Amino acid sequence: MAIQAWFPTYIYYEALQRGGAARFNAELLRECYQIRDFDRAGRKWSEKNYPGGFTSYGSLTKLHKMSSTFGELERKLTRHVRRFVRHLELNLRGYRLELTDCWVNIMPHRTTHSLHLHPLSLISGSYYVSTPPNCAGLKFEDPRLSRFMAAPPRVPNCRPENRQHVTYDAKAGHVILFESWLRHEVPPTPSDEDRVSLSFNYNWF
Ligand code: NI
Repeated sequence: MAIQAWFPTYIYYEALQRGGAARFNAELLRECYQIRDFDRAGRKWSEKNYPGGFTSYGSLTKLHKMSSTFGELERKLTRHVRRFVRHLELNLRGYRLELTDCWVNIMPHRTTHSLHLHPLSLISGSYYVSTPPNCAGLKFEDPRLSRFMAAPPRVPNCRPENRQHVTYDAKAGHVILFESWLRHEVPPTPSDEDRVSLSFNYNWF
């Protein structure tokens, strides 16, 4: 075949650890709600910027420095991020990879997070702490979409890699990683239970 694919976009999705996730997540979940109760500035920020839900994105983004549980999460996440960076073949020799920000997202019924990217970082991702049945996944957009100015739509049932959007299910205990420039969104969750996740950015220095 004379046609080859180039310039791939990689998304990493994997269980954080082999065992003990339920216990670790129960502790993280407890702390997520403690943070919400404690973080008045975050609740105020969320009222304006995250209707119906709570995020500490505007107030507390160094959770890995504040709690030993989040510190443990950092150590576990970093192993995955290193693996992803190796797959991307990024040359970080002489540089260090560092978790710069980590924050909580509590999304009740119908709270959404519209299309965005994560500026000023290299690798971003989420870790799922609590995911009710039928909860929204993470939807990614083809990064070239803004350049497809005169392109027709794709044929129905086109090959997965030719789709212009892909949605990953949110699954408690799993970590998802992507390059920070890749736009993504969280559609509304049709469930009465909260969808709780932690989001984070890694950068290189
Ligand atoms: Ni995001």
